[in-house]
Amino acid sequence: MSTIGLFYGTDTGNTETVAKIIKQKIEDSLGADSVDLLEIYQKSSEDMAKYDLLILGMPTWYDGELQGDWEEYIPKMEAIDFTNKKIAFFGLGDQYGYASYFCDALGVFALIVEKNHGTLCGLTSTAGYEHDHSKAERDGMFVGLCIDVDNQDEMTEERIDHWIPSVLQSFGLQ
Ligand SMILES: Cc1cc2nc3c(=O)[nH]c(=O)nc-3n(C[C@H](O)[C@H](O)[C@H](O)COP(=O)(O)O)c2cc1C
Repeated sequence: MSTIGLFYGTDTGNTETVAKIIKQKIEDSLGADSVDLLEIYQKSSEDMAKYDLLILGMPTWYDGELQGDWEEYIPKMEAIDFTNKKIAFFGLGDQYGYASYFCDALGVFALIVEKNHGTLCGLTSTAGYEHDHSKAERDGMFVGLCIDVDNQDEMTEERIDHWIPSVLQSFGLQ
């Protein structure tokens, strides 16, 4: 088992692409095999609970709805005790097409983690985004990293490069 468990769900592949980039960049820094990349589809509570350091990636669909595999995972997630676990979220969304629901899924899952005593890591500023509303937003910060490949793909790599060091530092790995 690697140090970090990176779980993602996707409908059209964007979150998977970003998940693979994040894994590669972390392994460039920490060494090969430091990240287990796992699709959330049909995973159990135990599959996630065995990691103390987690990165969770998810898109938001259909006016603030959850990606299907993540939605199915909710009861399993609610059964996990996140005490002493550190969790960093990243989300995929479209800030112009769905400006009132931008990356909402992150906000939904962040609440589950916090309710079950987990520590959120990798919060980011909302500066540079033009959405109207997001469940992922609190006091000018997102509860994770928001990526918008539909409108700002040219910023994706820079955003990831900025985010990873803060996550690894919060994880106590750098
Ligand atoms: C029909 C449709 C509904 C969408 N709804 C939302 C939404 O409510 N909020 C949001 O931030 N993005 C929304 N998006 C944008 C997707 O989240 C975005 O394209 C994302 O990159 C898809 O990720 P995936 O390929 O991993 O599934 C929507 C896209 C489509 C086509």
